Amino acid sequence: MNSAALTVNDLHGWYGESKALHGMQFRVGRGEVVTLLGRNGAGKTTTLRAVMGLLRRKTGEIRYGDEEITDRLPEYIARRGIAYCPEERSIFASLTVEENLLLPPVIADGGMSVDDIYALFPNLQERRKSPGTRLSGGEQQMLAIARILRTGATLLLLDEPTEGLAPVLIQQIGTVIGKLKQSGFTMLLVEQNFRFASKLADRHYVVEHGQVIDTVEATDVAENIDRIQNYLKV
Ligand SMILES: Nc1ncnc2c1ncn2[C@@H]1O[C@H](COP(=O)(O)OP(=O)(O)O)[C@@H](O)[C@H]1O
Ligand SMILES: [Mg+2]
Repeated sequence: MNSAALTVNDLHGWYGESKALHGMQFRVGRGEVVTLLGRNGAGKTTTLRAVMGLLRRKTGEIRYGDEEITDRLPEYIARRGIAYCPEERSIFASLTVEENLLLPPVIADGGMSVDDIYALFPNLQERRKSPGTRLSGGEQQMLAIARILRTGATLLLLDEPTEGLAPVLIQQIGTVIGKLKQSGFTMLLVEQNFRFASKLADRHYVVEHGQVIDTVEATDVAENIDRIQNYLKV
């Protein structure tokens, strides 16, 4: 097994008095793509927010490599090289594609240049002068991912990057994630689209009621398709 990039042990988390995480447990090896699969409300987004330091009330252990980061602030965690691309695709609508790319601070060595990013996302280069408001859903999603690559982060937390996108765009996002994996990025991917996730991930964790209830390695996906689809059925 690869050395661990991220290890989450017995993680419990709350929004005020309401408990959302009930002992989350998983690991992501260096260079791996790992998914959190599960229905709406299972606790996937909350888990990403906890790793990023955005969920304040929590117990348990979150380790980044050898370092415990459970109680660190988001700014610290970002500086250590973890970046979060939320479901809401937060881009600046009034700025152009290129301005959006130039805005995020480079906080670690090895952040991609704007040219590197255009090589990875040719359609963003074509749209470099377009304001955020004029982008399609797919272009917005690519821009949101591209922005976090500027920072120099090496562990990417991606929350449902394919949500609401047409099949051809889902395929493009898949190509980008494949290329990022080849370049050595580590990714924790939240998905409800299992067909998409199954082509990319080394391991899948099924999340229900704020816990991991099943783990499926990529090599075992084929014989467990029905079981996995069953978890995701509404
Ligand atoms: N800001 C919030 N305040 C209170 N409860 C929340 C908040 N965000 C999410 N929750 C609750 O936490 C649980 C997990 O939600 P979430 O992590 O968003 O699930 P998922 O991403 O798997 O759809 C749900 O019961 C949800 O209603
Ligand atoms: Mg979510």
